Amino acid sequence: MNTILVTGGLGFIGSHTVIDLVKQGYSVIIVDNLSNASAKVLPVLEELSQKKIPFYPVDIREKKELEKIFQEHQIDAVIHFAGLKAVGESVQKPLSYYDNNLISTITLLEVMEEYSVRKLVFSSSATVYGEPEKMPLLETDLTGATSPYGRTKLWIEQILQDLCDANDAWDVVALRYFNPLGAHKSGDLGEDPKGIPNNLAPYITQVGVGKLEKLHVFGNDYPTSDGTCVRDYIHVLDLAAGHRAAITYLEKEHCRYEIFNLGSGSGFSVLEMIKSFEKAIGKEIPFVVDSRRAGDIPVSYADTKKAEDKLGWKVQKTIDEMCADAWRWQKKHPDGFEP
Ligand SMILES: NC(=O)c1ccc[n+]([C@@H]2O[C@H](COP(=O)([O-])OP(=O)(O)OC[C@H]3O[C@@H](n4cnc5c(N)ncnc54)[C@H](O)[C@@H]3O)[C@@H](O)[C@H]2O)c1
Repeated sequence: MNTILVTGGLGFIGSHTVIDLVKQGYSVIIVDNLSNASAKVLPVLEELSQKKIPFYPVDIREKKELEKIFQEHQIDAVIHFAGLKAVGESVQKPLSYYDNNLISTITLLEVMEEYSVRKLVFSSSATVYGEPEKMPLLETDLTGATSPYGRTKLWIEQILQDLCDANDAWDVVALRYFNPLGAHKSGDLGEDPKGIPNNLAPYITQVGVGKLEKLHVFGNDYPTSDGTCVRDYIHVLDLAAGHRAAITYLEKEHCRYEIFNLGSGSGFSVLEMIKSFEKAIGKEIPFVVDSRRAGDIPVSYADTKKAEDKLGWKVQKTIDEMCADAWRWQKKHPDGFEP
């Protein structure tokens, strides 16, 4: 397998995965509607990889446009990152989330079927574990969702399972990511959320560069060592390598449908993350403690054994590297890709 179509390839995780794939010798084609990415990411990717990368500014719900891409290229597999991802926004705008995430995936699958491209890696999320009762989280644990965003991931997983059950020619890997952060070593590629960040890392780094005044910690009365929520953080470059491992797996195995957790297997509290960022940034991060946020669970971290055994993949990078890399990007580009 040599040619990979990456949907959402100008976004945070997609862009880092594109670099990784190109460096490993894959030909990559990107499709992204730029709804949550800047067109300026493309020249950065081409500069870092020293390769020209075909890019289509297309919404993948537009079937005809998507078909043109499959006509123009002999695609071997697809990595499907494209989607809306903000939990809070999905509660406010459920129809946008159902329309964008579900219709885009179904359209993509139809076009893949039409062109006999039946190998897919899908971006799922740890959010599909809902409100779990025990840790670490295993791929076989019960699922549930507490937001429209989470439901789109769960339903897409179900659609993929049904598709693989119906047609033996499909091979699909769903990757349930934990909490990605960090950035490319160059400091020229990183997370660039539009508006106020939803995730902890870009919020802290924006406080670090003075764009935001202080961090809001949601609850310090959880049953954890310091009362703040505990999450499993993973460097975006480790996550990118996980996608490459999934592609290699699809090359070798007729796996039908498989789910893998991609996380570090360890949990860090919000206060521990603040400390690690303070070390990277070299100054204190001011924060206030607010009340708990609806839907937040106290603790979440992955059991990573299945990914280690079957994909031969595990994380390499530490929390300190994640924070240092995220900070390098933010310091070098305080206003992200669009100053
Ligand atoms: N970042 C996280 O914390 C996290 C955690 C778990 C799962 N995920 C999932 O991983 C995937 C990538 O996440 P990310 O953090 O890189 O997000 P991102 O928003 O940076 O990237 C998604 C990209 O998809 C594009 N896109 C959205 N809808 C599209 C459409 N209909 N057609 C074409 N392009 C479209 C956006 O412009 C964006 O560039 C998403 O599916 C997300 O739900 C992310």
